[in-house]
Amino acid sequence: MTTPPRTLEPASNFGVIGLAVMGQNLVLNLSDHGFRVAVFNRTAARTDAFAAQHADRSITGFRDLDLFVAAIEQPRRILLMIKAGQPVDDQITDLLPHLAPGDVVIDGGNSLFTDTARRTVELADAGVLFVGAGISGGEEGARYGPSIMPGGDVGAWPIVEDALTAIAATVDGEPCCGWIGPGGSGHYVKMIHNGIEYGDMQIIAEAYDIMGRGLSMSAPEMQPWFERWNDGRLDSYLIEITADILGHTEDDGTPTVDVIVDATGQKGTGKWTVAASMNQSTPVSLIAESVYARIVSALLDERQEAASALGDDIEPLTDSVDQVMADLHDALYAAKIVSYAQGFMLLRSASEEYGWDLDLSMIAGLWRAGCIIRSRFLTEITAAYRKNPSLTNLLLDDYFTHQITQAMPGLRRTVARAARAGIPVPAYSAALSFFDAFRSRRLPANLTQAQRDYFGAHTYERTDAPRGEWFHTNWI
Ligand SMILES: NC(=O)c1ccc[n+]([C@@H]2O[C@H](COP(=O)([O-])OP(=O)(O)OC[C@H]3O[C@@H](n4cnc5c(N)ncnc54)[C@H](OP(=O)(O)O)[C@@H]3O)[C@@H](O)[C@H]2O)c1
Repeated sequence: MTTPPRTLEPASNFGVIGLAVMGQNLVLNLSDHGFRVAVFNRTAARTDAFAAQHADRSITGFRDLDLFVAAIEQPRRILLMIKAGQPVDDQITDLLPHLAPGDVVIDGGNSLFTDTARRTVELADAGVLFVGAGISGGEEGARYGPSIMPGGDVGAWPIVEDALTAIAATVDGEPCCGWIGPGGSGHYVKMIHNGIEYGDMQIIAEAYDIMGRGLSMSAPEMQPWFERWNDGRLDSYLIEITADILGHTEDDGTPTVDVIVDATGQKGTGKWTVAASMNQSTPVSLIAESVYARIVSALLDERQEAASALGDDIEPLTDSVDQVMADLHDALYAAKIVSYAQGFMLLRSASEEYGWDLDLSMIAGLWRAGCIIRSRFLTEITAAYRKNPSLTNLLLDDYFTHQITQAMPGLRRTVARAARAGIPVPAYSAALSFFDAFRSRRLPANLTQAQRDYFGAHTYERTDAPRGEWFHTNWI
């Protein structure tokens, strides 16, 4: 590729740095919407190949960062789609000397929200507006319309709004992109999205395990169940792709899912969600169990040894297939309601802790299309928070109170059945335990408080005194 000469009239009105799977697809999406895109990638060969492949579009590749920046109209809009962490700081350091005051840098990767908050302040000091935008939807979303969650320097929003909303997915004509709030709020919301995604995937995996090990169904036998569920209340992208996956076979007819090693990877956003929940004292127990389930799955060698030493037999299920499957449907649905209720509790507490004033209805709305957790269900959540923006918990919304009450017996029977059989259902169990704890007027925490006071003089509040008055007993 020959480097284009520097011109007085910048040829591009948007810049993208990072041409891996997400960056390339977002560039094509921007190009589809009429943006003239300058592109740069650390490894120049990637830039050359991409620019050559799309020579028929207004996409210009640059090997030099200064020429890349000079080719973009001011105020510049530059999207970073690179590996999160130190690479983002390194790239910003390289970029900053070439930028002008008022330019906008958007980090579209999965950055940690505290890094985004720090970068927003650091770039503001240099006169540059920084946006941390969570982008969800994977490769296909990036290409044809992701869900975008931008936050950071609000002064950047009028500059980037047209581009980000143009490339986002839409629902009923509304873009799945809206300004989230200051600092790291955009990446925080994306982090919760990913945590919820972990939970959704785990509750589906547990259904698959009960169907497979509990009911001895083959993957192709499971497929129609997921297809049917996708026509009802569980209608979602993840249920839909699960049906596709279960129907996929190798050349010899073996279901592809059966030849995949059962050790799950993860990139970190699930762990971050759980760490945030601990820091904010807000329970996302279903997501936490989903992260742990991945960690346990990865102990592959230890699990083989344990299976030999402890036995891996399960008790066959004795109920009819119809009963097990009806309960499983409700277990999935009830667990999903609890998981989203917990995820939105965490968003609500972050909004208060960081002063973000998050619009929970809008956030649920952004997740209705384009992203991995898109589902019919999110329309109901959008409606619940639209009806009552100060709703303290999704489980207390009339619609969801009714739904969870209806589905809970199925979840309860599923957890009991799995426990009797010896099939692990950590996410279903977490959902059930949270539900039962949340609806308990009295928990055994009084005994815990007594123990803490006994061994550590930590004091306790009394039921016959106002809250906030602390007592100590000399127990011995
Ligand atoms: N993949 C997905 O489905 C998905 C979905 C949503 C969000 N994300 C997030 O979006 C971002 C991009 O994801 P991706 O999967 O397209 O790519 P990725 O594999 O996360 O990152 C590869 C890109 O980062 C660049 N890079 C790595 N280290 C760098 C450094 N020190 N300085 C400059 N550039 C560096 C690479 O350049 P070289 O070509 O030179 O190595 C390449 O362009 C990530 O934060 C990811 O977590 C990904």
